[in-house]
Amino acid sequence: MGMESASSQTRDGGDESLLPHDRMNPNSPSGSSLLVGEHPLIAKIKAVVQRVANTDATVLITGESGTGKELVARELHALGPRGREAFVAVNCAALPGELLESELFGHMRGAFTGALASRKGMFQLAHGGTIFLDEIGEMPLSLQAKLLRVLQERMIWPVGAEHPVPVDVRIIAATNKDLRTQIQTRAFREDLFYRLQVIPIHLPPLRARRSDIPLLVNHFLDKANQRYHRQVQITTETMVWLWEYDWPGNVREVENLVEQLVILASGNQVTPEDLPPHIVSAVSTRHLAPPMLADEDDLDITRAVEALERRYIEKALSRANGNKSMAAQLLKLNRTTFLAKLRRIYRDTVPAPSGRAAVYGSTEGE
Ligand SMILES: Nc1ncnc2c1ncn2[C@@H]1O[C@H](COP(=O)(O)OP(=O)(O)O)[C@@H](O)[C@H]1O
Ligand SMILES: [Mg+2]
Repeated sequence: MGMESASSQTRDGGDESLLPHDRMNPNSPSGSSLLVGEHPLIAKIKAVVQRVANTDATVLITGESGTGKELVARELHALGPRGREAFVAVNCAALPGELLESELFGHMRGAFTGALASRKGMFQLAHGGTIFLDEIGEMPLSLQAKLLRVLQERMIWPVGAEHPVPVDVRIIAATNKDLRTQIQTRAFREDLFYRLQVIPIHLPPLRARRSDIPLLVNHFLDKANQRYHRQVQITTETMVWLWEYDWPGNVREVENLVEQLVILASGNQVTPEDLPPHIVSAVSTRHLAPPMLADEDDLDITRAVEALERRYIEKALSRANGNKSMAAQLLKLNRTTFLAKLRRIYRDTVPAPSGRAAVYGSTEGE
């Protein structure tokens, strides 16, 4: 307990640093990317971010919730010349139209009932820096027209003001909506869309870049271990399950799950049994769904059961990268039973050139 002094202070402070604001340190020596991931789609995004950060070009970031849109926006800001100035994030979905207008552009005293003093808007607060317009797809049409004018003139009109105020801000917008569809239904202005997406960046859902799952899990594991002073590890089998899960909440869901696993871990190892039931059942259903009747005319049940077992076994083996113990665990079989099934199913078969056994023709009896 002699370590309690300075270092635990720092670590407790580290809790706060999990807030997105502090996570991005523009003064970090390497200026290195906070975006974890090596998937080609992510590598491409990192390259675009590097190239675009130095410009003032307006960027439109699209992607499902939790894919890292805000993180990319902060990175664009931090790596660029405005990195030491303000980064102001506004959630356009959080306020109704009139309030959002005054939030963005500010208002003059007496501009509306209750406006007892004039107030600066987010654009002015972001002067010299970057404004991040999150959930831009939710912005009401009337305000979209005003934003378009800001983009064209680089001036804002505070509510009730007689003169526009020049602002020097870089604009980054994000949405999880498909703006092209919204343009079709006249919910989003086409001209604004093109003004915003000078540089489009699309963040793919995590299920489209599964190879990054272990990197992200380990990244958040390190963070949670530090934060909670733990040394929790995630077993390889558990990682296989996490790899197969679809992550509807994307990276945010990984972050939250890993934190939860670390907090709840009774020992230092997270095994598949520790995973929440919704993950286990989602993965099992996704990958071990029974096949439809392969051949409507063939009702030989033994053959059908064998084909089904074969499918499950092949699937489990490929998920476990050929590791038989792990495959047995995935199938919830003990190792002996699993090996017996494996031998029976492949008993008469000659491995095909690909290495997969050519078993589908062998239907002789026991
Ligand atoms: N590639 C990544 N590497 C590290 N952390 C990430 C990555 N993508 C997202 N995150 C983290 O996941 C959480 C959700 O990301 P966020 O940028 O808020 O998503 P979005 O704005 O798309 O909803 C944040 O805590 C963010 O820091
Ligand atoms: Mg967000």
